Amino acid sequence: MKSAGPVNFTVNGSAATVSVEPRVTLADALRDELRLTGTHLGCEQGVCGACTVIVDGAAVRSCLMLAVQAQGCEITTVEGLGQSAKLGPLQQAFRKHHAVQCGFCTAGILTTAHALLTEEPHADENRIREVISGNLCRCTGYLPIVAAILEARVAYCDVQREAAQ
Ligand code: FES
Ligand code: FES
Repeated sequence: MKSAGPVNFTVNGSAATVSVEPRVTLADALRDELRLTGTHLGCEQGVCGACTVIVDGAAVRSCLMLAVQAQGCEITTVEGLGQSAKLGPLQQAFRKHHAVQCGFCTAGILTTAHALLTEEPHADENRIREVISGNLCRCTGYLPIVAAILEARVAYCDVQREAAQ
């Protein structure tokens, strides 16, 4: 077995180092080494989307990515999208639209939607449904989730507009 080695990356804007064996997934490194337990593990085989995090701007299933592959990457987890005292726009919209029940899928849907709206703040309902179709929610139903993502678009449009000025 290969020995553990340091892996350096950025998580939610802060530098992080984990010492993990090569077989350790990014999901396990985030949860077990960095205690970022907002990233959930459901199927652990790339199907449910609960483990989705953003790596260098792309929504990634952290159960399918090895931690060592994240060397030098910029990672955003659900903890980076807002705080309890200051929710991000997607989180605010999810609360307003009651788009959460058990919450197990929520971190993965929020990160997936954040990656989408950062790139495509004007994404329409069809595009949103297409992108979140890989995130399985067993209890809320998708109507409030889609409504929340649609509403959050205005904040992402504002960010894009400010960046262009
Ligand atoms: S836990 Fe990664 S896709 Fe289900
Ligand atoms: S809120 Fe329960 S699985 Fe989506």
